[in-house]
Amino acid sequence: MPNNLLAGKVGIISGALNEKSIAWKVAQRAHAEGARFVLTNAPLAMRMGEINKLSEECNAPIIPADATSVEDLEKLFTGAQEQLGGKLDFMLHSIGMSPNIRKGKNYGELNYQWFQQTIDISALSFHKMLAVAEKQDAFNEWGSVVALSYIAAQRAFLDYTDMTQAKAMLESIARSYGQRLGKLKKVRVNTVSQSPTKTTAGAGISGFDAFYEFADKMSPLGNAPAEACADYCISLFSDLTRYVTMQNLMHDGGFSTTGISQEMADLMEKANA
Ligand SMILES: NC(=O)c1ccc[n+]([C@@H]2O[C@H](COP(=O)([O-])OP(=O)(O)OC[C@H]3O[C@@H](n4cnc5c(N)ncnc54)[C@H](O)[C@@H]3O)[C@@H](O)[C@H]2O)c1
Repeated sequence: MPNNLLAGKVGIISGALNEKSIAWKVAQRAHAEGARFVLTNAPLAMRMGEINKLSEECNAPIIPADATSVEDLEKLFTGAQEQLGGKLDFMLHSIGMSPNIRKGKNYGELNYQWFQQTIDISALSFHKMLAVAEKQDAFNEWGSVVALSYIAAQRAFLDYTDMTQAKAMLESIARSYGQRLGKLKKVRVNTVSQSPTKTTAGAGISGFDAFYEFADKMSPLGNAPAEACADYCISLFSDLTRYVTMQNLMHDGGFSTTGISQEMADLMEKANA
């Protein structure tokens, strides 16, 4: 049910690959709440063409940018401000990829060149976006930036390998830039730590189905779906959360503060019987 929460606001939404993407749902919700925005993704992802559907649906121009390239990001931020007619009020970083995960490397056998790519794509890209935005003075006062994270930043999870370190760095960048941009422009920067979600990036992790089920059984509210994550991001882009900054916000149905759930205890008892 739209409430015009983002009426008059403009921004950039990265990472919408297909209908399953969390960013796709954020774009649909932002559009419904009255925002105007530019969509962006890596040129390679563009070739799949699905983003054109979203662009039409939301009346949102697309500006391709490899988020590891400062040059591409400079064009993205100047292009977005031109197309939207002024400075930005919000930005979503919804970008993650690990060549090590894609190639099924375990934690003890990581390829270090790929490790660096994981960090560059999934964490440094956030720093680069914020650095370009700052240099271009691209944000309006009281703007809001959100990046998507995962609880592996705080806890060890089998098979999440080098993305674990990437997410820890992403959350740290949010704190450092939150401090900087808060002082400079009253811009807030947060990360949202989302439940396992069945998307292209999620499903690429080996053993994903098992830890999806595990998290679902452990969380009193169950895993948070992508649509609910989008709702939360919209609240963070809105003026209702103006003093929330430098936080890693758990959006996980209660997973992160549960010790053990009755469902898991019952399963263990059954297995031991
Ligand atoms: N799916 C989950 O279980 C889950 C849980 C918590 C957090 N997240 C995070 O949510 C974010 C979005 O992932 P998703 O689950 O919607 O999957 P997704 O695969 O739909 O989105 C990942 C996006 O990253 C983009 N990308 C990859 N390399 C890029 C580059 N060099 N430049 C620009 N864009 C690039 C991809 O094209 C894709 O659109 C990621 O940061 C992911 O780690 C996902």
